[in-house]
Amino acid sequence: MKLWEGRFDKPAAKSLEEFNDSLPFDRELWREDINGSKAHVTMLGKTGILPVADCEKILGGLRGIEEDIRSGKLEICGAEDIHSFVENELVKRIGEAGKKLHTARSRNDQVATDFRLYVMRAFDELTAGLKELVLSLCERAEDGLDCIMPGYTHLRKAQPICAGHFFNAYAEMFLRDMERAVQSRGRTAVMPLGSGALAGTSYPIDRDMTASLLGFSRPCENSLDGVSDRDFAAEYLFVCSLAAAHLSRLCEDIILYSSEEFGYLDISDEYSTGSSIMPQKKNPDIPELIRGKTGRIYGHLIAILTTLKAIPLAYNKDLQEDKEGLFDAKKQIGACLGVMAELLLNIKLERETAAAAAEKDFCCATDIADYLAKKGMPFRTAHAVTGRIVRDRIADGRTLQDMTAEEYAAYDPLFGPDICGKVKGWACAEARSSYGGASPARVKENLLSIKKRLEKYG
Ligand code: ARG
Repeated sequence: MKLWEGRFDKPAAKSLEEFNDSLPFDRELWREDINGSKAHVTMLGKTGILPVADCEKILGGLRGIEEDIRSGKLEICGAEDIHSFVENELVKRIGEAGKKLHTARSRNDQVATDFRLYVMRAFDELTAGLKELVLSLCERAEDGLDCIMPGYTHLRKAQPICAGHFFNAYAEMFLRDMERAVQSRGRTAVMPLGSGALAGTSYPIDRDMTASLLGFSRPCENSLDGVSDRDFAAEYLFVCSLAAAHLSRLCEDIILYSSEEFGYLDISDEYSTGSSIMPQKKNPDIPELIRGKTGRIYGHLIAILTTLKAIPLAYNKDLQEDKEGLFDAKKQIGACLGVMAELLLNIKLERETAAAAAEKDFCCATDIADYLAKKGMPFRTAHAVTGRIVRDRIADGRTLQDMTAEEYAAYDPLFGPDICGKVKGWACAEARSSYGGASPARVKENLLSIKKRLEKYG
């Protein structure tokens, strides 16, 4: 039964129904729809808008529907949308009283309320998923405190770093995502219910009561905005998109560092795949798939922004397009965060390869320039002297580590016998002890701070 069929002479065309109906996807909102109705009817009873006896019947009916959906006894089908489904089912079960539920309410404020409740829960799940991931990163960072690896710029070796610094950098990104999720959830927790179709209602409703029953911080202050605002959906998709970008960067690094060319990380067999033709292959499908899903999550963000861009006030059916992308993004980001948190616990640092790589390819050159500059040579001159040393070693195929102190002194008398100890990977990383730097001590400090900041999130 349509909630609106009274005005029409002819029944809806099959094609209209197929195109218009949202039940196949908005059934996902069933919990929120029932909870919203429970709060609404409780308020209608308390304010005397409906007789208490009717309200109790309605509440009983709603509880029954909820139980039957949860247990699988009641299948969600055969209606235009989830709101019609619940209302039709209620009337089927309790009769005339059920027809009073929609007093002082429109599907426009109803769906906006349901969707916000859903997105509030989605933000909570996102925060929890991010927390798990940061915990895994902390574990890897801890393990990397006594390991040195090369740090990169332009994907060219730059300077040695403590390996924990790498994992902490990603933890920082995901902590920012958590902060964004919590802040956006705060803006989502504003209740549209009571906005009616667009203009509010003539009944003496108590919107503060429904807001507090549903866990909103307050009712919205403008009914036109209340029924048509979907900023919260765009924000959720943005927060997911940025988290996906961070995940994708992490995946890219894991894929590179676990390759034969780098070899700093090993992904355990249970989290790798093989090839149907090349027997030697061990492929990083998990990080590749996460990196690939980023495109789809961004797509959902662009879709909602585009849907929203020319909608006149207030509700328009375009807004029905707000849900499917978000449902999918929630599912995808949840899966990506979960599998990445697990993958990280099954990745091993190849300490020797990483440490050796941190000395190769003139990774310690900056430290030679710094050595001279600390002895009074202008840094620009020290840079040029070091550049000459690097050029000569490229020419004779030797390294900064196999040069003797005398050989260094031949380039400049400021070089003393201690120079050979300065071009070790560990020494170079340890030297970067400025606040926020890559020395093991600073990395440990960073890790403790990350763990402390993480405690804020229940
Ligand atoms: N399925 C609709 C949606 O998702 C529910 C609201 C219907 N409102 C209306 N005026 N037709 O937006």
